[in-house]
Amino acid sequence: MSQELLLESLATISACKTSQSLEDIRVALLGKKGKITEELKKLGGASPEERKTLGATLNQLKQEITDALEVKKIALTDSELNARLATEKLDVTLPAHVEQQGKIHPITQVAEEITAIFADLGFSTEVGPDIEDDEHNFTALNIPESHPARQMHDTFYLHGKGDNKTVLRTHTSPVQIRTMRAGKPPFRFIAAGSTYRCDSDLTHTPMFHQVEGLAIDKNINMGHLRGCISEFLRVFFELDNVPVRFRPSFFPFTEPSAEIDIGCARSKDSLKIGAGNDWLEIGGCGMVHPNVLKNCGINPDEWQGFAFGMGIERLAMLKYGIPDLRTFFESDVRWLSHYGFDPLHIPSLVGGL
Ligand code: DAH
Repeated sequence: MSQELLLESLATISACKTSQSLEDIRVALLGKKGKITEELKKLGGASPEERKTLGATLNQLKQEITDALEVKKIALTDSELNARLATEKLDVTLPAHVEQQGKIHPITQVAEEITAIFADLGFSTEVGPDIEDDEHNFTALNIPESHPARQMHDTFYLHGKGDNKTVLRTHTSPVQIRTMRAGKPPFRFIAAGSTYRCDSDLTHTPMFHQVEGLAIDKNINMGHLRGCISEFLRVFFELDNVPVRFRPSFFPFTEPSAEIDIGCARSKDSLKIGAGNDWLEIGGCGMVHPNVLKNCGINPDEWQGFAFGMGIERLAMLKYGIPDLRTFFESDVRWLSHYGFDPLHIPSLVGGL
C-alpha cells in the first residue's frame, strides 16, 4: 500500500507543471487532511508492533515525498522565472515618460540674481522677521509718529501698544537696524524679503518683495552709492549702458535721499529698458541719516554710509517682460510654467562684473 502511494505521489509530482499546482499536490499529500497525514493518523489504532514498522515506513515515505516536492519546487520556480524573463522585454528605444518638472518662481529667481550680483560687489546677506515691532519698522528708522507711512492706510497692525506694537513689516529697512545693532561697523550687506502694505490695486499687492542694501564705512559718499547702483543695474539688465537717474526725494532715514529711475521706452504694450526718453522708478536710496546711526549706537561723525531699497517685482517685470503684477501671486501653474525658471538654470548675467 505505502509503496504504491509513494510511486503514485512521485509520478504526480514529477508530472506537475506549475508551482501553484505543486502547492495543491503538497496540501493533498501532507496537508492537515492529506493522504499521508491520514495514514499517519491511523497509526494510533495499530498494535505497538505494527506501529513500529508501519511508522518507520510512513515516515520514510513522508521524507521522500517532501524531498521530491522541494526539488520540483526549485525546478518550477526557475523555469517560471526564465519564462517571465523571456517575455518581459524592455524596449530602451521607447521615449521616456515626461516627468512633471517644478519651476522656480520669478521672484525667487530675481532675488537670487540680485544676491549674486551684490555678492560680487562685496555685499553679504542678512534677514529679518516679517513680523516686526513698531520700533524697528519706524521709530529707529527716524520715522516720526506723524509720518503718513504709519497710518492704518499703509500698515497692517497686529497687536501690542507703543513701540511694542507689532506690524507686518512695511519695508525691508528694519533689517538695517537689526543688523547694525547686532554688530560693529563697517557693514556691507543686502536683505531681500517679503514686505506688506494694506494696498491692493493694479500696481499694488498687499504682499510684495524688496531688497534692501546698506554700506557703512569711513569716508563713504554718494558717488559710491551711484556707482554701486549703476553697476548693479548694468549687470542685472545685461546691458552695457543703462541710463540711471537719481531724482531728489525724501525718506526719513536718509539725507540726502533720492529715487532711482531707469531710462526706458514705453509704448502701448511694451517697455524697453535702456532706450527712449521715459524714466521708470525702481526704488529709493540715500545717505544714511545720522539719527539712524545714533539709534544703533554708531557714531555718525566717524561712520557714514548709503542705503537703498528696490522692489523685486518691479525689477522682475522689467527684466522678464511680465506685464501684470497681480499674476505673481495667483498661483496659476500655467503662468508659472511660462514665466518660471528651470531649477538647474544658471543665470547668464552676460554683462558680468
Ligand atoms: N524703505 C523704503 C520704502 O519702502 C525704500 C528705501 C528708500 C530704502 C531709501 C532705503 C532707502 O534703504 O535708503 O519705500
